[in-house]
Amino acid sequence: MIQLDHVTKVFEAPGGERLTVLDAVDLLFPTGRAVAIQGPSGSGKSTLLALMAGLERTTEGRVVVDGQDLGALDERGRAAFRARRLGFVFQAFHLLQPFSALQNVAIAAEIAGVDRPLERAREVLRRVGLEGRLEHVPAQLSGGECQRVAIARAIVARPPILLADEPTGSLDPRNADGVFELLLELQRELGSTLVLVTHDPHLADRLQARVVLERGRIASTGGLA
Ligand SMILES: Nc1ncnc2c1ncn2[C@@H]1O[C@H](COP(=O)(O)OP(=O)(O)O)[C@@H](O)[C@H]1O
Ligand SMILES: [Mg+2]
Repeated sequence: MIQLDHVTKVFEAPGGERLTVLDAVDLLFPTGRAVAIQGPSGSGKSTLLALMAGLERTTEGRVVVDGQDLGALDERGRAAFRARRLGFVFQAFHLLQPFSALQNVAIAAEIAGVDRPLERAREVLRRVGLEGRLEHVPAQLSGGECQRVAIARAIVARPPILLADEPTGSLDPRNADGVFELLLELQRELGSTLVLVTHDPHLADRLQARVVLERGRIASTGGLA
């Protein structure tokens, strides 16, 4: 479960003016639910995910993820929490370029304290269909393959929380579909709570619930109760 109580995020713009990017947002994502976040560019979707991942701190309000109040942790604590309890998939993959697919996943497993990280990394890479690409570095992989590595990395520690920020946004339609299906399958297998930002209404329709943001406020929700 992810709970946001009256979450406000204010950024200081370069000119010094205060920019309220999220404005007193209350949300509850039930355990095991798959939820789409929609809304125009600049409406605060990525900021919302960054707050739920503890990558940003709230200006006001509280974020509780899988029973942990993120505001009660320092930066190290939040990093440790992320490594063990949370998987994050980015639009631009964010893989470590000098490292192979296997190393990218194994390093994440090691940091998360997973038992036998190398074996576990092999197992999840097999699960995402990349058993034939273990030694490839990201530059030698297609976009769809890179995102499969990133998904393997995100789930290697079987996290209860999965966050994905436009995970299919840089893929062609066929690869986008495959990556989306894979994420959903893994979410169901793990029973994780999935929060996924997407611009694609067809993808959003295939999730159980949705939140629409507009200018930092919730315009509508469905399927969250
Ligand atoms: N670090 C930052 N400093 C200042 N403004 C920011 C920062 N991050 C995001 N913003 C602003 O916050 C607004 C929402 O950004 P974002 O959450 O990325 O929106 P979305 O993901 O919905 O497109 C944008 O207007 C953006 O310019
Ligand atoms: Mg964004």
